[in-house]
Amino acid sequence: WWSWRFEEPVSYHLLQMSSFHNHSWVHLSSGWLGELQTHRWNSISGTFIYLYPWSRGNFSNRELVDLERFLRVNSIEIQEFYTDYFMSEDPFDLQMATGCELNSGKGFLGFLHVAIQGSDFLSFQNETWLSSPEGVREAQKVCELNNLNQAYTYRLHRLLSDTCPRFTLGLLDAGKAHLQRQVKPEAWLSSGPSPGPGRLLLVCHVSGFYPKPVWVMWMGGEEEQLGTQRGDILPNADGTWYLRATLDVAAGEAAGLACRVKHSSLGGQDLVLHWAPPSALGWILLAVIVALALLTGLGFWFRKRW
Ligand SMILES: *[C@@H]1O[C@H](CO)[C@@H](O)[C@H](O)[C@H]1NC(C)=O
Ligand SMILES: *[C@@H]1O[C@H](CO)[C@@H](O)[C@H](O)[C@H]1NC(C)=O
Repeated sequence: WWSWRFEEPVSYHLLQMSSFHNHSWVHLSSGWLGELQTHRWNSISGTFIYLYPWSRGNFSNRELVDLERFLRVNSIEIQEFYTDYFMSEDPFDLQMATGCELNSGKGFLGFLHVAIQGSDFLSFQNETWLSSPEGVREAQKVCELNNLNQAYTYRLHRLLSDTCPRFTLGLLDAGKAHLQRQVKPEAWLSSGPSPGPGRLLLVCHVSGFYPKPVWVMWMGGEEEQLGTQRGDILPNADGTWYLRATLDVAAGEAAGLACRVKHSSLGGQDLVLHWAPPSALGWILLAVIVALALLTGLGFWFRKRW
Protein backbone atom coordinates (compact mmCIF):
# COMPACT_ATOMS: atom_id res chain seq x y z
CA TRP A 1 0.00 0.00 0.00
CA TRP A 2 3.03 2.24 -0.01
CA SER A 3 2.63 2.66 -3.74
CA TRP A 4 0.16 5.54 -3.38
CA ARG A 5 2.75 7.61 -1.54
CA PHE A 6 4.21 10.33 -3.67
CA GLU A 7 6.95 12.83 -3.11
CA GLU A 8 5.85 16.43 -3.18
CA PRO A 9 7.48 18.35 -6.01
CA VAL A 10 10.60 20.10 -4.76
CA SER A 11 10.17 23.83 -5.21
CA TYR A 12 10.71 27.18 -3.61
CA HIS A 13 8.85 30.34 -4.50
CA LEU A 14 8.34 33.88 -3.32
CA LEU A 15 4.91 35.42 -3.55
CA GLN A 16 4.87 39.19 -3.70
CA MET A 17 1.86 41.42 -3.64
CA SER A 18 2.09 45.15 -4.16
CA SER A 19 -1.07 47.19 -3.83
CA PHE A 20 -1.65 50.86 -4.28
CA HIS A 21 -4.97 51.59 -2.57
CA ASN A 22 -6.15 54.95 -1.39
CA HIS A 23 -2.87 56.75 -2.19
CA SER A 24 -0.62 54.39 -0.28
CA TRP A 25 1.46 51.30 -0.99
CA VAL A 26 1.35 47.96 0.76
CA HIS A 27 3.96 45.31 -0.07
CA LEU A 28 3.43 41.77 1.22
CA SER A 29 5.79 38.87 0.56
CA SER A 30 6.05 35.31 1.68
CA GLY A 31 8.43 32.45 0.91
CA TRP A 32 7.23 28.89 0.38
CA LEU A 33 9.05 25.57 0.32
CA GLY A 34 6.49 23.55 -1.63
CA GLU A 35 3.31 24.08 0.38
CA LEU A 36 5.02 25.09 3.58
CA GLN A 37 5.52 28.76 4.34
CA THR A 38 9.07 29.27 5.56
CA HIS A 39 9.47 33.07 5.27
CA ARG A 40 7.56 36.29 5.73
CA TRP A 41 8.67 39.71 4.62
CA ASN A 42 8.90 42.61 7.02
CA SER A 43 8.04 45.45 4.67
CA ILE A 44 8.96 48.11 7.23
CA SER A 45 12.57 47.00 7.68
CA GLY A 46 12.75 45.29 4.27
CA THR A 47 14.05 42.05 5.77
CA PHE A 48 13.03 38.42 5.96
CA ILE A 49 11.25 36.96 8.96
CA TYR A 50 12.43 33.37 9.40
CA LEU A 51 9.51 31.19 10.44
CA TYR A 52 11.67 28.19 11.42
CA PRO A 53 15.14 27.93 12.95
CA TRP A 54 16.19 26.19 9.72
CA SER A 55 14.64 28.80 7.37
CA ARG A 56 18.11 30.15 6.56
CA GLY A 57 19.00 26.86 4.91
CA ASN A 58 22.76 26.76 4.47
CA PHE A 59 23.11 30.37 3.28
CA SER A 60 25.47 32.78 4.98
CA ASN A 61 24.19 36.02 6.44
CA ARG A 62 25.88 37.89 3.61
CA GLU A 63 24.07 35.98 0.92
CA LEU A 64 20.74 36.50 2.70
CA VAL A 65 21.35 40.22 3.10
CA ASP A 66 22.11 40.39 -0.65
CA LEU A 67 18.77 38.74 -1.37
CA GLU A 68 16.95 41.15 0.91
CA ARG A 69 18.53 44.08 -0.91
CA PHE A 70 17.46 42.65 -4.26
CA LEU A 71 13.86 42.36 -3.02
CA ARG A 72 13.87 45.90 -1.58
CA VAL A 73 15.11 47.31 -4.89
CA ASN A 74 12.50 45.22 -6.62
CA SER A 75 9.62 46.81 -4.72
CA ILE A 76 11.00 50.28 -5.42
CA GLU A 77 11.17 49.39 -9.11
CA ILE A 78 7.58 48.22 -9.04
CA GLN A 79 6.55 51.62 -7.70
CA GLU A 80 8.52 53.43 -10.42
CA PHE A 81 7.10 51.14 -13.07
CA TYR A 82 3.63 51.90 -11.75
CA THR A 83 4.09 55.67 -11.99
CA ASP A 84 5.50 55.28 -15.52
CA TYR A 85 2.80 53.02 -16.95
CA PHE A 86 -0.30 53.09 -14.73
CA MET A 87 -0.27 56.73 -13.77
CA SER A 88 -3.79 57.15 -12.48
CA GLU A 89 -5.05 53.74 -11.46
CA ASP A 90 -6.18 53.44 -7.88
CA PRO A 91 -6.64 50.71 -6.75
CA PHE A 92 -3.72 49.01 -8.43
CA ASP A 93 -2.67 45.40 -7.68
CA LEU A 94 0.43 43.60 -8.76
CA GLN A 95 1.15 39.99 -7.90
CA MET A 96 4.38 38.21 -8.59
CA ALA A 97 5.44 34.57 -8.16
CA THR A 98 9.16 33.90 -8.48
CA GLY A 99 11.01 30.69 -7.83
CA CYS A 100 12.31 27.40 -9.06
CA GLU A 101 10.98 23.87 -9.30
CA LEU A 102 12.76 20.57 -9.71
CA ASN A 103 11.56 18.86 -12.88
CA SER A 104 12.42 15.21 -13.21
CA GLY A 105 15.06 14.90 -15.89
CA LYS A 106 15.46 18.62 -16.52
CA GLY A 107 16.91 19.76 -13.22
CA PHE A 108 15.61 22.98 -11.70
CA LEU A 109 13.52 25.34 -13.81
CA GLY A 110 13.23 28.95 -12.71
CA PHE A 111 10.06 30.94 -13.24
CA LEU A 112 8.68 34.41 -12.73
CA HIS A 113 5.09 35.41 -13.40
CA VAL A 114 3.55 38.82 -12.96
CA ALA A 115 -0.17 39.59 -12.88
CA ILE A 116 -1.61 43.08 -12.86
CA GLN A 117 -5.16 43.81 -11.72
CA GLY A 118 -5.61 40.05 -11.45
CA SER A 119 -4.68 39.24 -15.09
CA ASP A 120 -1.50 37.68 -16.45
CA PHE A 121 0.87 40.41 -17.49
CA LEU A 122 4.30 39.00 -18.24
CA SER A 123 6.64 36.14 -17.43
CA PHE A 124 10.34 35.39 -17.51
CA GLN A 125 11.80 32.08 -18.68
CA ASN A 126 15.10 30.99 -20.18
CA GLU A 127 16.59 34.50 -19.91
CA THR A 128 13.69 36.00 -21.89
CA TRP A 129 10.85 38.30 -20.91
CA LEU A 130 7.52 37.42 -22.51
CA SER A 131 4.32 39.39 -22.38
CA SER A 132 1.27 37.26 -21.71
CA PRO A 133 -0.58 36.11 -24.88
CA GLU A 134 -3.46 38.50 -24.30
CA GLY A 135 -0.84 41.01 -23.21
CA VAL A 136 -1.62 44.64 -23.07
CA ARG A 137 0.62 47.10 -24.91
CA GLU A 138 2.32 48.07 -21.63
CA ALA A 139 3.44 44.46 -21.10
CA GLN A 140 5.08 44.31 -24.52
CA LYS A 141 6.86 47.58 -23.87
CA VAL A 142 8.14 46.43 -20.48
CA CYS A 143 9.36 43.13 -21.95
CA GLU A 144 11.20 44.88 -24.77
CA LEU A 145 12.95 47.20 -22.32
CA ASN A 146 13.83 44.39 -19.90
CA ASN A 147 15.18 42.19 -22.69
CA LEU A 148 17.52 45.05 -23.64
CA ASN A 149 18.73 45.38 -20.04
CA GLN A 150 21.17 42.48 -20.18
CA ALA A 151 22.75 43.03 -16.77
CA TYR A 152 19.39 42.87 -14.99
CA THR A 153 18.20 39.93 -17.08
CA TYR A 154 21.39 38.04 -16.35
CA ARG A 155 21.17 38.79 -12.63
CA LEU A 156 17.62 37.49 -12.50
CA HIS A 157 18.55 34.42 -14.51
CA ARG A 158 21.37 33.61 -12.05
CA LEU A 159 19.00 34.12 -9.15
CA LEU A 160 16.46 31.67 -10.55
CA SER A 161 18.80 29.08 -12.03
CA ASP A 162 21.58 29.06 -9.43
CA THR A 163 20.70 30.82 -6.15
CA CYS A 164 17.18 29.46 -5.90
CA PRO A 165 18.08 25.76 -6.46
CA ARG A 166 21.00 26.01 -4.01
CA PHE A 167 18.79 27.67 -1.43
CA THR A 168 16.01 25.09 -1.94
CA LEU A 169 18.34 22.11 -1.54
CA GLY A 170 19.97 23.74 1.49
CA LEU A 171 16.52 24.32 3.06
CA LEU A 172 15.43 20.74 2.41
CA ASP A 173 18.56 19.52 4.14
CA ALA A 174 18.41 21.91 7.10
CA GLY A 175 14.71 21.27 7.64
CA LYS A 176 14.92 17.51 7.15
CA ALA A 177 13.84 16.60 10.69
CA HIS A 178 10.76 18.83 10.39
CA LEU A 179 9.88 17.89 6.80
CA GLN A 180 10.26 14.15 7.32
CA ARG A 181 8.38 14.00 10.63
CA GLN A 182 5.47 11.61 10.90
CA VAL A 183 2.34 12.72 12.74
CA LYS A 184 -0.50 10.26 13.24
CA PRO A 185 -4.04 11.20 12.20
CA GLU A 186 -7.01 11.28 14.54
CA ALA A 187 -10.30 10.21 13.05
CA TRP A 188 -13.93 10.55 14.08
CA LEU A 189 -17.33 9.99 12.52
CA SER A 190 -20.39 12.17 12.30
CA SER A 191 -23.51 12.39 10.19
CA GLY A 192 -23.97 15.24 7.77
CA PRO A 193 -27.19 16.88 6.58
CA SER A 194 -29.49 14.17 5.25
CA PRO A 195 -29.17 13.89 1.44
CA GLY A 196 -32.86 12.89 1.15
CA PRO A 197 -35.70 10.97 2.78
CA GLY A 198 -34.48 7.69 4.27
CA ARG A 199 -30.85 8.47 3.48
CA LEU A 200 -27.83 9.20 5.65
CA LEU A 201 -24.66 11.12 4.93
CA LEU A 202 -21.83 9.41 6.79
CA VAL A 203 -18.86 11.69 7.41
CA CYS A 204 -15.39 10.47 8.31
CA HIS A 205 -13.06 13.22 9.56
CA VAL A 206 -9.32 12.63 9.50
CA SER A 207 -7.18 15.32 11.04
CA GLY A 208 -3.73 16.21 12.30
CA PHE A 209 -1.68 14.03 9.96
CA TYR A 210 1.65 14.77 8.31
CA PRO A 211 2.92 14.31 5.62
CA LYS A 212 0.05 15.04 3.27
CA PRO A 213 -0.49 11.78 1.34
CA VAL A 214 -3.34 9.85 2.94
CA TRP A 215 -5.85 7.19 1.92
CA VAL A 216 -9.40 7.30 3.32
CA MET A 217 -12.24 5.05 2.23
CA TRP A 218 -15.64 3.94 3.47
CA MET A 219 -15.68 0.13 3.59
CA GLY A 220 -18.33 -2.58 3.80
CA GLY A 221 -16.26 -5.40 5.23
CA GLU A 222 -13.33 -5.69 2.83
CA GLU A 223 -15.16 -3.94 0.04
CA GLU A 224 -14.32 -0.34 -0.84
CA GLN A 225 -17.45 1.79 -1.14
CA LEU A 226 -16.91 3.46 -4.48
CA GLY A 227 -19.44 6.15 -3.65
CA THR A 228 -16.97 7.59 -1.14
CA GLN A 229 -16.47 11.31 -1.81
CA ARG A 230 -13.14 12.76 -0.77
CA GLY A 231 -12.96 16.46 0.06
CA ASP A 232 -9.89 18.59 -0.52
CA ILE A 233 -6.99 18.11 1.86
CA LEU A 234 -7.05 21.29 3.96
CA PRO A 235 -4.30 22.75 6.12
CA ASN A 236 -4.59 22.90 9.91
CA ALA A 237 -3.01 25.90 11.60
CA ASP A 238 -0.19 23.78 13.04
CA GLY A 239 1.07 22.59 9.64
CA THR A 240 -0.75 19.25 9.72
CA TRP A 241 -3.60 18.31 7.35
CA TYR A 242 -7.32 17.61 7.49
CA LEU A 243 -9.52 15.56 5.17
CA ARG A 244 -13.12 14.40 5.22
CA ALA A 245 -14.65 11.54 3.28
CA THR A 246 -18.41 11.23 2.97
CA LEU A 247 -20.77 8.47 1.85
CA ASP A 248 -24.43 8.82 0.95
CA VAL A 249 -26.27 5.60 1.96
CA ALA A 250 -29.78 4.30 2.61
CA ALA A 251 -30.38 4.56 6.36
CA GLY A 252 -30.80 0.80 6.67
CA GLU A 253 -27.43 0.05 5.08
CA ALA A 254 -25.24 2.17 7.33
CA ALA A 255 -24.74 -0.46 10.02
CA GLY A 256 -21.65 -2.53 9.28
CA LEU A 257 -19.89 0.22 7.35
CA ALA A 258 -16.53 1.48 8.53
CA CYS A 259 -14.11 4.24 7.63
CA ARG A 260 -10.58 3.04 6.94
CA VAL A 261 -7.51 5.32 7.02
CA LYS A 262 -4.03 4.50 5.76
CA HIS A 263 -1.15 6.82 6.46
CA SER A 264 2.61 6.45 6.51
CA SER A 265 2.71 7.39 10.23
CA LEU A 266 0.55 4.37 11.12
CA GLY A 267 3.17 1.87 10.02
CA GLY A 268 0.65 -0.38 8.24
CA GLN A 269 -1.81 -0.40 11.19
CA ASP A 270 -4.82 1.16 9.50
CA LEU A 271 -7.26 3.19 11.56
CA VAL A 272 -10.72 1.62 11.32
CA LEU A 273 -13.81 3.35 12.70
CA HIS A 274 -17.10 1.46 12.66
CA TRP A 275 -20.31 3.32 12.06
CA ALA A 276 -22.61 2.93 15.06
CA PRO A 277 -26.05 4.47 14.76
CA PRO A 278 -26.33 7.24 17.37
CA SER A 279 -29.25 5.44 19.06
CA ALA A 280 -27.10 2.35 19.74
CA LEU A 281 -24.43 4.60 21.22
CA GLY A 282 -27.14 6.20 23.36
CA TRP A 283 -28.24 2.78 24.68
CA ILE A 284 -24.66 1.82 25.48
CA LEU A 285 -24.11 5.08 27.36
CA LEU A 286 -27.38 4.62 29.22
CA ALA A 287 -26.43 1.04 30.15
CA VAL A 288 -23.04 2.20 31.43
CA ILE A 289 -24.62 4.98 33.51
CA VAL A 290 -27.22 2.62 35.03
CA ALA A 291 -24.50 0.08 35.84
CA LEU A 292 -22.35 2.74 37.49
CA ALA A 293 -25.32 4.01 39.51
CA LEU A 294 -26.12 0.48 40.68
CA LEU A 295 -22.51 -0.15 41.67
CA THR A 296 -22.33 3.10 43.60
CA GLY A 297 -25.62 2.29 45.30
CA LEU A 298 -24.39 -1.20 46.18
CA GLY A 299 -21.16 0.29 47.50
CA PHE A 300 -23.04 2.59 49.89
CA TRP A 301 -25.34 -0.18 50.97
CA PHE A 302 -22.40 -2.51 51.76
CA ARG A 303 -20.54 0.20 53.65
CA LYS A 304 -23.61 1.00 55.76
CA ARG A 305 -24.17 -2.69 56.55
CA TRP A 306 -20.53 -3.11 57.60
C1 LIG B 1 -9.90 55.58 1.57
O1 LIG B 1 -9.67 56.68 2.44
C2 LIG B 1 -10.82 57.41 2.79
C3 LIG B 1 -10.42 58.64 3.60
O2 LIG B 1 -9.30 58.35 4.40
C4 LIG B 1 -11.79 56.50 3.54
O3 LIG B 1 -12.95 57.19 3.89
C5 LIG B 1 -12.11 55.28 2.66
O4 LIG B 1 -12.92 54.40 3.40
C6 LIG B 1 -10.85 54.59 2.21
N1 LIG B 1 -11.21 53.54 1.28
C7 LIG B 1 -10.68 52.33 1.34
C8 LIG B 1 -11.12 51.38 0.28
O5 LIG B 1 -9.86 51.99 2.19
C1 LIG C 1 24.06 24.54 0.24
O1 LIG C 1 23.58 23.26 -0.14
C2 LIG C 1 23.51 23.03 -1.53
C3 LIG C 1 22.87 21.66 -1.74
O2 LIG C 1 23.41 20.68 -0.91
C4 LIG C 1 24.87 23.15 -2.17
O3 LIG C 1 24.78 22.97 -3.56
C5 LIG C 1 25.47 24.52 -1.85
O4 LIG C 1 26.78 24.62 -2.34
C6 LIG C 1 25.46 24.73 -0.32
N1 LIG C 1 26.01 26.05 0.06
C7 LIG C 1 25.59 27.24 -0.38
C8 LIG C 1 26.22 28.42 0.24
O5 LIG C 1 24.77 27.36 -1.24
